[in-house]
Amino acid sequence: MKYSVIILAAGSGSRTGLNYNKILYKINGKRVIDYSLNFFENDLDCSQIILVVNPQDISAFSIGNNSKISNIIFGGKTRQESVRNSLKYIDENYVLIHDSARPFIPIESIENMKEYLLDKSSLTLGVPVTDTIQKVAYGFVTETIDRKPLIATQTPQAFHRDVLVKAHFMAFEQNFEATDDTTLLLGMLDIKAFVVPGDQRNIKFTNISDAKFLEVVL
Ligand code: CTP
Ligand code: MG
Repeated sequence: MKYSVIILAAGSGSRTGLNYNKILYKINGKRVIDYSLNFFENDLDCSQIILVVNPQDISAFSIGNNSKISNIIFGGKTRQESVRNSLKYIDENYVLIHDSARPFIPIESIENMKEYLLDKSSLTLGVPVTDTIQKVAYGFVTETIDRKPLIATQTPQAFHRDVLVKAHFMAFEQNFEATDDTTLLLGMLDIKAFVVPGDQRNIKFTNISDAKFLEVVL
């Protein structure tokens, strides 16, 4: 199977406190973004990389010889807008979307995801929630949520292109916003995402302290 991948790098990484985008931060001598670029460059099933960047970072990227990167495009104000900007460039019927802030991509999970993608149109990686999750109001716990049915959602997520594009178009028309793409397919088209087991090491580089953990696992 051949697929396109959208690699998202158009945020700013404000929660890290760095004075530049976190995806350019080096872990073990390599930029965070390059872990994702190398992973998909090396996957023979991946035929196309669409790289979505912050205009401020454009000088940090180029399309090298023999690269799978077909387009380097500018993202938007939100993650959803960044994905939307990339949709018209997708060549394949199967598409993965990945947050480049997750540099540890679990290869077995991706292989499983590709198999399921042949007959399922919306897929996400997810791992069981291990913390006790509670609702808080005015500084006090008001409710403990049953964590058994919960997952922590990861990327990559995977989709059939036609329904992904349709869901984004409808969400734009209806001002429906979500922090991931499976929520758009669920909200707009009533398509439920199938969950493929992810990996606890596939964390999102969010706070600068995450860099220590990533140094070890990468
Ligand atoms: N992202 C994007 N376009 C945006 C916002 C986020 O492409 N307008 C990307 C980020 O580059 C990241 C992924 O979406 O790879 C997940 O977002 P997040 O971890 O929140 O990154 P930032 O928004 O950059 O970080 P912060 O929220 O701390 O500012
Ligand atoms: Mg953000």
